[in-house]
Amino acid sequence: MNSIILQLENIRKEFSRRIIFDKIDLMLKNGNSLAITGINGSGKSTLVKIIAGILSPTRGALTLSVNGLELKIERYHNHVGFVAPYIHMYDEFSAYENLKFFARIRGLTFDKQYVDYLLDRVVLYDRRNDAVRTYSSGMKQRLKYAFALLHKPEVLIFDEPRANLDRHGIATVYEIMEEHKPDGILILATNDQEDLSYAETILNLDELRMAKVGVKKEQINVVAK
Ligand SMILES: Nc1ncnc2c1ncn2[C@@H]1O[C@H](COP(=O)(O)OP(=O)(O)OP(=O)(O)O)[C@@H](O)[C@H]1O
Ligand SMILES: [Mg+2]
Repeated sequence: MNSIILQLENIRKEFSRRIIFDKIDLMLKNGNSLAITGINGSGKSTLVKIIAGILSPTRGALTLSVNGLELKIERYHNHVGFVAPYIHMYDEFSAYENLKFFARIRGLTFDKQYVDYLLDRVVLYDRRNDAVRTYSSGMKQRLKYAFALLHKPEVLIFDEPRANLDRHGIATVYEIMEEHKPDGILILATNDQEDLSYAETILNLDELRMAKVGVKKEQINVVAK
């Protein structure tokens, strides 16, 4: 796997002048895992969108370096696999067509064997030619994992990883996390205690709220071991 460093410096996000979080410093590299936790509305999804390069921070710097080269934000998606409730696939297309389409826009050659392996892993192989609109919500969630892994990214970001999944689906997601952790960067946004146990470092955004009323900045620096 490529060597990767993800760094956030002094990140602040405001929506309509309302500060969601401020002064977030974060450094993650190969083998690091981080869980972002906090009450509903504390900014978990906002922060992972910023990390994934799909939302701009109001202030601060975000850098992603691969093998020592700093990437432009437009290229982040080549190195990030993202699963979240607000990510959607093309409903009228089948799983297969969606995966083919995404392989093409990501500039990948369509590796049928790998795609079949991914679909089998998320137990959708038999439904691969059905339109996504005919899927149950758990099946759609499973398909998102096949998408996230398609380009073998160094950074995996899962926002509410268990959403709609049954026990078997959750177990598969935990296996994916465990396989990724030794070499990649894993970031979770969750309030689930079991999910939290999969990350070596926990960033609690509720404490950041406290930071605004006087907790020392040292307490909000997250530098994973
Ligand atoms: N596009 C937006 N415009 C205005 N405010 C927004 C927008 N997106 C999020 N917010 C606000 O930012 C805050 C953080 O929202 P966010 O979705 O990041 O929270 P969260 O921690 O993921 O919550 P949950 O646990 O419910 O998923 C909330 O107050 C929300 O209302
Ligand atoms: Mg959220």
